[in-house]
Amino acid sequence: MKTLGPATAFVAILVIAAAFGAAPLAVRFLAPQHRSTRGDAFVPPPDAEIPNDQFGKQVALGRELFIDTAAAAPQFVGNDLKCSNCHLDRGRLANSAPLWGAYVLFPQYRAKNGHVNTFQERMQGCFRYSMNGKAPPLGDPVLVALESYAAFLSRGAPMGAKLPGRGYPELARPPMAADPVKGRSVYAADCALCHGADGAGQKAGGQTVFPPLWGPRSYNWGAGMSDIDKAADFIKANMPFSEGGSLTDQQAWDVAAYIDSRPRPQDPRYAGSVQETRAKFHETTQSMYGKTVDGQTLGGDGPPKAAP
Ligand code: HEC
Ligand code: HEC
Repeated sequence: MKTLGPATAFVAILVIAAAFGAAPLAVRFLAPQHRSTRGDAFVPPPDAEIPNDQFGKQVALGRELFIDTAAAAPQFVGNDLKCSNCHLDRGRLANSAPLWGAYVLFPQYRAKNGHVNTFQERMQGCFRYSMNGKAPPLGDPVLVALESYAAFLSRGAPMGAKLPGRGYPELARPPMAADPVKGRSVYAADCALCHGADGAGQKAGGQTVFPPLWGPRSYNWGAGMSDIDKAADFIKANMPFSEGGSLTDQQAWDVAAYIDSRPRPQDPRYAGSVQETRAKFHETTQSMYGKTVDGQTLGGDGPPKAAP
């Protein structure tokens, strides 16, 4: 009998596996539909593939938490945002920090807290800062469900791989320094229609339909989005909604500088004074925390209010 070459053997194993019911997995590795419209990014499995078992229950709960966070976990949320407002299409969309891009890269060292973080600890950060809430304790059912959802979306993705489409594409530094005054005009022309002239977003029937960009119901001064460079990266790739890529780089930088020069909730790491807090956590050109804009010191409104 002729021996099979390694490639032929691999295909043969897939065919045999397919015959025995492992078809979806085999197809995921081979099929071109796992290349998305946003470049050649990984495509996570559709919700229809959420398994009908105990694990699947957690995946479905995690999905619910991700898209309707305050309704599903009010005790941990302190503003009007949902996870999916910044991680678009339910955490699936390439170039908007998709869950599948993140999950395969944890545990990971983070300079922000100076140690190796588990995936659950990374999500605690988004509760504390982006959601201006309280971090669920490690192992809390809320984090277990969210982690299950992320694991489900990552099925078929190689562990440890820096997949195309993960995070936000890093925007080159602007030709001219980011200018909040020019950003105000970009905001009025391209953003205010949805997010409101006052940045507070819009509600209909008690539901937030357009999320707030600044003010007491938005992300706080500890959030990644409060750094101008992170916001510019997100905005260039994803805003105006469904028209990502339409602003020039300079417009994305300017409007990011504008929204991140507006008041927002205190940094929960507040160190007793705004100067001290800036020195400890915000000593970068990308943060306006502690600067005075329109006669008001950003972050100068005293200790954090109890969250949520
Ligand atoms: C205000 C916007 C915002 C909200 C709301 C938000 N996040 Fe994030 N999240 C970010 C930003 C910004 C990053 C950093 C992305 C980067 O550095 O590329 C991030 C990073 C993450 C990461 C790591 C991504 C990576 O590629 O390493 C995870 C996981 C995550 N968030 C989960 C959540 C969860 C769960 C929630 C809801 C409880 C949430 N986020 C709410 C803005 C937000
Ligand atoms: C057509 C309506 C629309 C326009 C115009 C628009 N956005 Fe958004 N924006 C949204 C929606 C909707 C979301 C939440 C996405 C989701 O939940 O799927 C969002 C989310 C965001 C977020 C993350 C969530 C938050 O509240 O912080 C930021 C930042 C943002 N938009 C900035 C901008 C900027 C800057 C502009 C102008 C360049 C802009 N948007 C224009 C609809 C819009």
